[in-house]
Amino acid sequence: MADVEMHGEHHSDLHAEADAGPRAKFRAMTEGTQEDWAIIAGHFMPFAANVADRVLTHLKLLDGDYGGFPVDRLTHSLQTATRAHRDGRGETYVVMALLHDIGDTLGSYNHPDVGAAIVKPFVTEEEHWICANHGAFQGYYYFHYLGMDQNAREAFRGHKHFAACEEFCAKYDQAAFDPDYAHEPLEYFEPMLRRVMARPLQGMLARLAD
Ligand SMILES: [Fe+2]
Ligand SMILES: [Fe+2]
Repeated sequence: MADVEMHGEHHSDLHAEADAGPRAKFRAMTEGTQEDWAIIAGHFMPFAANVADRVLTHLKLLDGDYGGFPVDRLTHSLQTATRAHRDGRGETYVVMALLHDIGDTLGSYNHPDVGAAIVKPFVTEEEHWICANHGAFQGYYYFHYLGMDQNAREAFRGHKHFAACEEFCAKYDQAAFDPDYAHEPLEYFEPMLRRVMARPLQGMLARLAD
């Protein structure tokens, strides 16, 4: 376990289970064998099954992160999800709304790309598109205050998901900065997020979940 100790306690907590048992013997993939890949495949599904835990842990990094806004980024995310949920949206949409800004921490210059990549296997193609492009559509409400083009979203005019993305920003995202709005807590959305992230709907690894 020297390896785990070297990497510290956090590493051991996250990986203790996944690190147990035999490991593949190759030093380069060109040396890989069926046996090696049977070992790795045996680890993949249990690890992938816990993606919801890792996403929740990362989402909590937005807690207390105001960036000058009236509410912190976690509150903004909860308000966006709550508004979508109370408006009757389905679970995959609500989870997309909850995670739409999760990329703010790692993708400071392209946060919609990061959030979209995380939700992609679990949501509809339209919901993924909304997540991936909400930045330009949200800009309609503030880009002109920053010397940018308020109508940047016009580049997407005519796209089949234009109206859906416009609606996401108008109804939920741009409205989710109200310190007085009674949103649901993260715990409320946890079971929903776990159900949605329990199995991928698309992506080349989706068949492994069958
Ligand atoms: Fe955003
Ligand atoms: Fe947002």
